[in-house]
Amino acid sequence: APVWCVVPAAGVGARMKAGFPKQYLKLQHKTILEHTLERLLALPYVAGVVLALHPDDDYWTTLPISRDQRISCVDGAVERAGSVLNSLTWLEDNGHSDAWVLVHDAARPCVTSDTVANLIESVRRSDAVGGILGVPVSDTLKQVVNDNRITGTQDRSKLWQAQTPQFFSVGLLKRALQQALDVGLMVTDEASAMEFAGHQPLMVEGRADNIKVTRPEDLPLATFILQQQAL
Ligand code: C5P
Repeated sequence: APVWCVVPAAGVGARMKAGFPKQYLKLQHKTILEHTLERLLALPYVAGVVLALHPDDDYWTTLPISRDQRISCVDGAVERAGSVLNSLTWLEDNGHSDAWVLVHDAARPCVTSDTVANLIESVRRSDAVGGILGVPVSDTLKQVVNDNRITGTQDRSKLWQAQTPQFFSVGLLKRALQQALDVGLMVTDEASAMEFAGHQPLMVEGRADNIKVTRPEDLPLATFILQQQAL
């Protein structure tokens, strides 16, 4: 089955405090979104990209890459999961119901082709319904409630940080996301919707430098990672 990419890029980037969406910040003379899309489009097995943009997005069409015929745009939604769902609907409506998708955050420009290939191969070798990239957590994780009081410590040995891409078939993922949204579940990644539907997606170890550019201090870090990877 063909592999498509779905790139949610409809967030407003409130935590970045940049005054405009973080995917349009520049790293090494290119926006974060361009870095991300170029890496995905360079994967030889990718048939195309569905990009979910904010309905009021004024920036996209100013980028040269917006003319790339392999990219189709859809309107995003208020939540990330809704943006992904709209993208999956586009795929179904355009005859790609049998495709598999790599859902990848626009805000992760440092993803590498090796880790994505390993994700796909690992899922195909397994009997899992799909899978995601992640890394084991390195910090101790605390539960914190009112007034920043610590009320518990998680067992770190079983905890991983979820990254993207997350790799699933269009049909199963769409049903799972719809179901999760219908019951008001907090869905911050695709795997959580699949888990809620009773599946056990595969966790595939990726790289810690596949960071999600979220806060101002992530920008110099992402620049450094891109520089190192280019060497
Ligand atoms: O908010 P967060 O950092 O988890 O966003 C991850 C990705 O999802 C970003 O690329 C963001 O643009 C996208 N997103 C979206 N629609 C939303 C919220 C976030 O496409 N409503």
